[in-house]
Amino acid sequence: MRYVGSKRRLAKKLLPIIQQGLKVYPKGMYIEPFVGGANMITEVKHHTRIGYDANKYLIALLKQAQQNPDSIEQAKCFSKTVFNYIKSNKDKFYNWYVGAMGFFPTYCNKWMESYHEHLSPGVFDGSKKCLLNQNLSGIHLLHSDYRNINVGKGNVIYCDPPYKFADFYKMPFNHEEFYEWVRTVSRNNIVFVSEYVMPPDFECVWRTTIKPGISHKAAPRVEKLFMYKN
Ligand SMILES: C[S@@+](CC[C@H](N)C(=O)[O-])C[C@H]1O[C@@H](n2cnc3c(N)ncnc32)[C@H](O)[C@@H]1O
Repeated sequence: MRYVGSKRRLAKKLLPIIQQGLKVYPKGMYIEPFVGGANMITEVKHHTRIGYDANKYLIALLKQAQQNPDSIEQAKCFSKTVFNYIKSNKDKFYNWYVGAMGFFPTYCNKWMESYHEHLSPGVFDGSKKCLLNQNLSGIHLLHSDYRNINVGKGNVIYCDPPYKFADFYKMPFNHEEFYEWVRTVSRNNIVFVSEYVMPPDFECVWRTTIKPGISHKAAPRVEKLFMYKN
C-alpha cells in the first residue's frame, strides 16, 4: 500500500536478513509491531506472520482488502468538503472506509492530512490499486499499541517505528520507551529495527543509500537496520 514511511523500495533488500533470522527460529513467528502499509510483511515467506498497528482505521482497511476487496474497488474519491466531514465524523462510517478516505486522497498518503486539492483521479485510484495488488493472504492483522503485544520467545520481530526525526503518524511516540522495550524483547527474540539513529548499545547490522526520486532535490539518505548488542 502507498504509505508514508513505506519500506516498499527497501523490502527486497531487507528480506534476506529477515529470512536469515527466521532460519534461527524456524518454528517461531514473524512479528511486525508497526505494520503500516504492510509493504515489508507481504514479502516475508514464513508460516506465521503477524502485523500490528496502533491505527485502527489502517488495520481495518488492510483486513477489508483481505476479506472483501470488491468493496474497496468500489470506493470513490470525494471533494475536500466530504473528506473533512469524514475526518470529523469518523464514528459515522465503517473503520475501513475511514481508512480508505484518510489515506488514498492525501499528500504522500499521510493519515488524514493535506487532502490533494487538485488531485487527479489517478492518484486516488492508484493508491487503491496498489493496496488491492498486495498479497495479504495468510497475514494476521491486529490493532494494538506495540507496548501491549505479547511477543513471547523464539520469534523474529521487525520494527519499523515512527523515525525519531520524522514522525508522520499523528500519535505521540516515546522513543526512549521504545528502546527499552527493544532491549527487553531482544533477550528472547531476534529483533531488527529500522531507524536512522539508535543509542550506542545498538549496532548497525546493515545499511544502504537511497537516492531520492528524480523530481526531488533532497540529498540521498542512508537507511539502516539495527540490533541490540545484548
Ligand atoms: C514507518 S510506519 C511503518 C511502515 C511499514 N513498514 C510499511 O512499509 O508500510 C510506522 C507505523 O507505526 C505505527 N505506530 C505509531 N505508533 C505506534 C504504536 N505505539 N504502536 C504500534 N504502532 C504504532 C503508525 O501508525 C505507522 O503505521
